[in-house]
Amino acid sequence: MPVICRKAKSEDVNALHDLIQGYAAQGIMLPRSREALARNIGNFVVADDAGKLVGCGSLLKLGSDLVEIRSLGIADGYKGQGIGSKLVDALMAEAKEQRIPKVMALTYEVSFFQKNGFHIVDKEIFPEKVWTDCVNCPKQNNCDEIAVLKRIELMPEAAEMSYART
Ligand SMILES: CC(C)(COP(=O)(O)OP(=O)(O)OC[C@H]1O[C@@H](n2cnc3c(N)ncnc32)[C@H](O)[C@@H]1OP(=O)(O)O)[C@@H](O)C(=O)NCCC(=O)NCCS
Repeated sequence: MPVICRKAKSEDVNALHDLIQGYAAQGIMLPRSREALARNIGNFVVADDAGKLVGCGSLLKLGSDLVEIRSLGIADGYKGQGIGSKLVDALMAEAKEQRIPKVMALTYEVSFFQKNGFHIVDKEIFPEKVWTDCVNCPKQNNCDEIAVLKRIELMPEAAEMSYART
């Protein structure tokens, strides 16, 4: 059975926590408590290999026109198989569904994001809200992550409606 990408469910919280915790211990991701994951489970997509959670990613809304991809990670043994790209596609589709035109990420994996259509941007272009979580980051005054951005073409709502009717 192929690995599938799906929305996360409350039963995924423990496995999500373990995956994120593993990367947090390496300083690649910010840690997330089980409570925070349970509260925000609706923002997560996961990769599921016959019931085993092997990847995750989430969207955090930062304004009416901007979301951030967060907590994107693939389990060891599953990298390099296109699963990360599938999760990014699912998160982009979710942003489009919510009619949010700009998707950003802060990352060390610049070439992965570039392969997925993102480009490097100056961190300064983002609003203050992007940086609120930095107080929880050990590297807060020394951030070496790179900001990347991808824009989504949104059709005007009226055009989408008339298109849907034809
Ligand atoms: C970065 C990560 C999410 C990529 O997921 P993945 O499933 O391995 O990536 P994919 O298989 O979808 O790769 C898509 C493309 O990007 C390339 N790619 C993947 N990881 C890459 C990397 N680290 N550097 C350069 N290119 C990379 C692949 O070669 C592939 O290119 P191709 O389509 O030409 O073959 C995964 O490696 C990971 O979990 N890393 C650790 C956590 C992390 O850093 N997350 C990012 C936080 S924002």
